[in-house]
Amino acid sequence: MPERPIALVTGASRGIGAAVARELSNTHDLLLGGRDTDALQTLANELPGHAEPWAVELTDHDAVAEKVAGIDRLDALVHSAGLVEIGPVSDMTGDAWRRTFELNLFAVTELTRLALPALRAASGHVVLVNSGAGLAAKPNWGTYAASKFALRAFADVLRAEESANGVRVTSVFPGRTATDMQRELRAQEGGTYEPEQYLQPESVARPVVSAVQATPDAHLTEIILRPS
Ligand SMILES: NC(=O)c1ccc[n+]([C@@H]2O[C@H](COP(=O)([O-])OP(=O)(O)OC[C@H]3O[C@@H](n4cnc5c(N)ncnc54)[C@H](OP(=O)(O)O)[C@@H]3O)[C@@H](O)[C@H]2O)c1
Repeated sequence: MPERPIALVTGASRGIGAAVARELSNTHDLLLGGRDTDALQTLANELPGHAEPWAVELTDHDAVAEKVAGIDRLDALVHSAGLVEIGPVSDMTGDAWRRTFELNLFAVTELTRLALPALRAASGHVVLVNSGAGLAAKPNWGTYAASKFALRAFADVLRAEESANGVRVTSVFPGRTATDMQRELRAQEGGTYEPEQYLQPESVARPVVSAVQATPDAHLTEIILRPS
């Protein structure tokens, strides 16, 4: 039997990351990133093929380096872990800016850097789950939008630098999606959570997997999704 390709998905314990892991499990062996080891093990047990928890606090760069050390080939790295805090600039403290950037940007840049040798070895694919807020910045979305604008810039630079090494890079910009993050966000906004009005996590996962599985001549660089 030929070896199956290997994918590492962050934020795989819930939401969009879990849906991406489910969708990728048809073709890939999986490392399931997250912190909730019970949720990761439950998902691993459900999936066909090989899947194992890859539990690590992504903002702890030393811990991430230790986890990456054992990976010598990586066909896909999907960055889904992220957080959102909303509020006007007048209320956003330095700590709030740092919390958001630590996870939404610095955790992504460091994990990508550490994984690059393994990605190059496999002519792999990096997918960055961005957001509509990474394309248009609105009032109250300062920290989150800024982190996602920066994430897009990082993706563009990475693509330009690494395409010669056979590494493809895709930014995905979903609108509101029915996950725990959206439930918490609606509570912060003082609105009701209406999952039927939003994208389903599976609907975001599908195009992510299409990008990863695109033929080598095709590079899906950016995917924008809105609830219809
Ligand atoms: N939901 C939306 O409406 C929406 C829209 C556009 C873009 N997005 C983006 O989509 C991505 C996924 O969002 P989601 O809605 O699926 O979020 P979610 O349901 O809140 O899940 C967040 C995931 O990130 C992981 N995570 C959080 N902090 C972490 C940390 N410090 N270290 C390691 N893992 C951590 C969580 O793991 P544990 O639970 O195991 O800690 C969980 O698996 C995010 O980048 C988000 O910005 C979401």
